[in-house]
Amino acid sequence: MASSIAPLILFSFFISISSSLSQTLSKPKALILPVSKDATTLQYVTHIKMGTPLAKKNFAVDLGGQHFWMDCDDGQYVSSSFKQSLCGSAPCSVAKATCDGACFPGYNRPGCNKEKCHVNIDNTLIGGGFDVGFISLDKISIQSTEGSKYGPYVGISDFIFACANDRGVGNLARGANGMVGLGSNQIALPTQLSSAFGGSFRRNFAICLPSTSKSNGVIFFGDSPYVFYPGYNTSKVIDVSSRFQHTKLYINTAVTGSSVVTRGPPSPDYFVKVTSIMVNKKPIRVNSTLLEFKKTGKGGTKISTVEPYTKLETTIHRALVKAFDKEIAVWNVSKVAPVAPFTDCYTTGNMGMTILGIGVPDIAFVFENNKNLYWEMYGANSMVEMSRDVVCLAFLDAGDEPIITTPIVIGAHQLQDNLLQFDLASNRLAFTSTLLLEEVECSNFKF
Ligand SMILES: *[C@@H]1O[C@H](CO)[C@@H](O)[C@H](O)[C@H]1NC(C)=O
Ligand SMILES: *[C@@H]1O[C@H](CO)[C@@H](O)[C@H](O)[C@H]1NC(C)=O
Ligand SMILES: *[C@@H]1O[C@H](CO)[C@@H](O)[C@H](O)[C@H]1NC(C)=O
Repeated sequence: MASSIAPLILFSFFISISSSLSQTLSKPKALILPVSKDATTLQYVTHIKMGTPLAKKNFAVDLGGQHFWMDCDDGQYVSSSFKQSLCGSAPCSVAKATCDGACFPGYNRPGCNKEKCHVNIDNTLIGGGFDVGFISLDKISIQSTEGSKYGPYVGISDFIFACANDRGVGNLARGANGMVGLGSNQIALPTQLSSAFGGSFRRNFAICLPSTSKSNGVIFFGDSPYVFYPGYNTSKVIDVSSRFQHTKLYINTAVTGSSVVTRGPPSPDYFVKVTSIMVNKKPIRVNSTLLEFKKTGKGGTKISTVEPYTKLETTIHRALVKAFDKEIAVWNVSKVAPVAPFTDCYTTGNMGMTILGIGVPDIAFVFENNKNLYWEMYGANSMVEMSRDVVCLAFLDAGDEPIITTPIVIGAHQLQDNLLQFDLASNRLAFTSTLLLEEVECSNFKF
């Protein structure tokens, strides 16, 4: 018990807070980051000011990512407040970093030497590691919020991040310097922020992803109301937390690829327990054993911002499409040739346009313990318009076991214009279902 608590205590010692604007801001209740959708890669990108002088850096957002990493090679990172972490230091132990001579010849980045501790960087966009990242510290600056608009910037010194090379940024959205992980581990952004401010700064965060690349959505850290202005009309105000429904968040075991594991290391990803899927309020037939959490880390339902579309295990996907095709028949549509990456595309027939997107049978994920607790998805989240006449079902076939480990991965298209709050202090997910029901889009937050 004592050994697992030690790193957190050390951690709160060396993190310190500064505010250039006012003393009262040094303990904000909540912080806020803008998030935009990159039209080419469909990645979600945020920007954070770092270093001295403060420079804006762009990061692809990985909900289940464990590291905050960036390309520091060849003068990409220049800051007078940059500090390297030496082996045996508190940041190295918080980061669960290792120490050996990983500073290979040819590496040219700040503080590269044998004493430096490092982690293996996970670039989930390319399916895993690509480089060692040297544990580094610098100042970051993020805007505060009281829940209805962007407030003054708050500085956090000695923020822990990992300096890697440019091999990992090749597949990121144009202009991105690295990735920011929002995972459940200690050095991911949510826990670092709550450790920095402590006290009333709750260990939770909320994401509201925009549906287009034209306007920004928001990511909140800490506790605040979530006040949006439907259609940017400031005389209509809604705190969208009034729409919250809750289900348990699971920290799953990382998949080890072996079936004899009794308990592996925790995965930084966020999981929930879906027990069934409905189309037009009618449950479809799925193998419920598949959806159970297994000791090996398999099973369960993961939420992801790096998968553009929800992926379902083959038999679940097949059952969903079958039920969807049956329900949509009354719309007088016909199935047309698939348009990659989608497998199920339709002529628009008599589907009308509604405030919830194109009018199609709704799809709902039902959570454990309560058949009336479900996350409902309408056209805006279930379909993608390919042309004026063709729309595709935005649920992909992930393949079957043993190729895949998680039978349901809820992807970014399904998260758009929904607010999801990940409460790490009480292991609870709060979700709104689509905010379009309130005529709110994630971009309807005030700058
Ligand atoms: C804003 O909302 C108010 C109250 O619902 C309404 O009367 C007004 O016409 C709206 N303004 C615009 C520009 O839509
Ligand atoms: C359901 O899934 C489990 C676990 O993957 C599998 O062992 C079993 O054969 C499946 N049952 C059916 C009826 O397909
Ligand atoms: C259904 O679609 C066909 C051709 O796509 C059309 O000829 C027919 O009139 C449509 N029926 C209805 C009821 O809309």
